[in-house]
Amino acid sequence: MATEHLPVMLQETLAALDLGPEDVVVDATFGGGGHARGILEKLGDGGRLVAVDRDPEAAGRTSEFLRDPRFDFVSGAYDLVLRAMADEGRRVDAILFDLGLSSFQIDEPGRGFSYVREGPLDMRMDTSSGYSAAEFLNTVDAGELALVLSEYGDVPRGEARRVAREVVRRRPLRVTTDLYDAVRAAVGWKERGGNPAKRVFQAVRVRVNDELGGLGRALEASERLLSPGGRLVAITFHSGEDRLVKRFISGREGRCVCPPELPVCVCGARPVFRRGIVQKPSKRELEENPRSASARLRSAIKTAEPPEDGG
Ligand SMILES: C[S@@+](CC[C@H](N)C(=O)[O-])C[C@H]1O[C@@H](n2cnc3c(N)ncnc32)[C@H](O)[C@@H]1O
Repeated sequence: MATEHLPVMLQETLAALDLGPEDVVVDATFGGGGHARGILEKLGDGGRLVAVDRDPEAAGRTSEFLRDPRFDFVSGAYDLVLRAMADEGRRVDAILFDLGLSSFQIDEPGRGFSYVREGPLDMRMDTSSGYSAAEFLNTVDAGELALVLSEYGDVPRGEARRVAREVVRRRPLRVTTDLYDAVRAAVGWKERGGNPAKRVFQAVRVRVNDELGGLGRALEASERLLSPGGRLVAITFHSGEDRLVKRFISGREGRCVCPPELPVCVCGARPVFRRGIVQKPSKRELEENPRSASARLRSAIKTAEPPEDGG
């Protein structure tokens, strides 16, 4: 079981959050509190940090933080929490999403996230709601499963179809090694392109937790919750979530599409965000924390309120 989670791209994250001493900040993915600790160090006495996590076990890691009067923790899915805050008319100066799983979750076989150790095929971040990976895999049809594997795990289509057929043939699946063995039987593997089970497990996890749906809704809520000048920072770990964040930001940059000969803009372009540069972990971080390998940090500054109709 993991005893710690190393916060990914901590210095780059703090620089992109660009905190002032009185800022109100949301850490939407508290995990083990690594980023939260860095954020609190940057805030003054008048600052505030609201941390969120949907995994009930994350709440158990907040006791040290709750002694700090500037810190609040909300247990729940970030899309619901951010939407509720925005609906209450609250405003914040910065929001951080450090997406995916913490080492506490990956390294605990009982959670079912890891293909390395046997455990129940669960994979829910919040086991009190939704359906487990086993329930999903034992009822989904092969065509839909193949789509999930290619869309959420970047599994090549042919491989995805073979894995899906093998899963259906082997039902019922109960433990992580049942899924691992199905992948191995379907696609085998030589020492190339990494272990295909990694991408299959990722895809199933993303689906079971509706990770992309939740992230899309959370980004929309963030747009309302941030004050003008506020900073949005997201660390992504796979192409599906990275694409979603990238498209969200670029879709709100309000690029003017008027013909260049027009002296003023008439197309109604109205930028809501200005994007920052995309960053990757340094060579040193990659050596110290190989789990950071696929991380991409995207950031944006809110420049104006979104149009009332959300369009
Ligand atoms: C990569 S970890 C965050 C690690 C943290 N930044 C740190 O330094 O310790 C991601 C965390 O986000 C949580 N999480 C993922 N999706 C979530 C969601 N939709 N709502 C709330 N929390 C979520 C997970 O339970 C996990 O604890």
